[in-house]
Amino acid sequence: MTVKRVGIVGSGIMGSGIAEVASKTGHEVVLRSRKQETADRTVAGLEKSLNKQVEKGRLSEEDRDGALQRVTATSDLGELAACDLVIESVVEDLPTKKELFNELDRICGDSTILATNTSTLPIIEMAMETGRPNKVCGIHFFNPAPMMALVEVVRAITSSDETIAEATAFAQACGKNPVQVRDQAGFIVNALLFPYLNNAVRLFDAGVASREDIDAAMKGGCNFPMGPLELLDLVGLDTSLSILEALYEEFKDPNYAPAPRLRRMVSAELLGRKTGQGFYDYKKK
Ligand SMILES: NC(=O)c1ccc[n+]([C@@H]2O[C@H](COP(=O)([O-])OP(=O)(O)OC[C@H]3O[C@@H](n4cnc5c(N)ncnc54)[C@H](O)[C@@H]3O)[C@@H](O)[C@H]2O)c1
Repeated sequence: MTVKRVGIVGSGIMGSGIAEVASKTGHEVVLRSRKQETADRTVAGLEKSLNKQVEKGRLSEEDRDGALQRVTATSDLGELAACDLVIESVVEDLPTKKELFNELDRICGDSTILATNTSTLPIIEMAMETGRPNKVCGIHFFNPAPMMALVEVVRAITSSDETIAEATAFAQACGKNPVQVRDQAGFIVNALLFPYLNNAVRLFDAGVASREDIDAAMKGGCNFPMGPLELLDLVGLDTSLSILEALYEEFKDPNYAPAPRLRRMVSAELLGRKTGQGFYDYKKK
């Protein structure tokens, strides 16, 4: 089987990015949000993004029109029934994801692969909500999905070789460089990245340096494209907190215990770019 029709559930930062990647690379995309209005707004955002690429000469008008024609926006999960692959990218919360997998299993055809874009949560728990645990795996894109080359294809203990091969082929068909990894919290990238991000919040909280100097130090000293506090704002502080909580739950390593300041900022709805304020203020820009 080659994946031709892809369902995407969730139209936040990642769901909308994955929809752009998949439609631009020739896949039929069914984008599902809980509200039709949100799904339609996401497609309007996709059109805006593609128009910008046309203006910059990076995409032809014909390819833009083709990509837009391949996308359907819906609020009805039932429209995912005939997809070859469904990738969920809803909030990083295990009970929500488990419930969704249960519903998707009832709705989708027997051959549909069900994948999660989770950053850290145990994929086996989502797989066991379905009657097809061999057809469940992780397909973990990076933010922003249209720009980042990596996809982690995550093998749950129940995933079949065929499912992993299909997911890997799909990532390649999206123009990405997939790596394969076992279902363990954080996979490769976040297991290594998040202790560093968490310690940057602690350093800032301890008043060791200003936010600007912490970011400038890691860009200038390690040649990183973004500083840790800028990156947390891009990822979303709520998602980052959930990732750290899942890592801590799995390993009980103090490096993963979320910095108290991160938790306080999430309570205050200072979530980063998506709310206009995190470590930095984006409303002014
Ligand atoms: N932000 C990142 O850098 C990043 C990178 C890779 C993977 N991820 C993963 O992608 C997934 C989505 O993250 P995001 O950054 O797009 O988050 P987001 O906050 O931008 O979007 C979350 C989406 O989930 C929806 N949602 C919230 N509660 C829901 C519910 N109860 N049922 C159904 N939908 C619900 C929201 O309406 C929204 O569309 C998470 O699993 C996250 O770990 C995030």
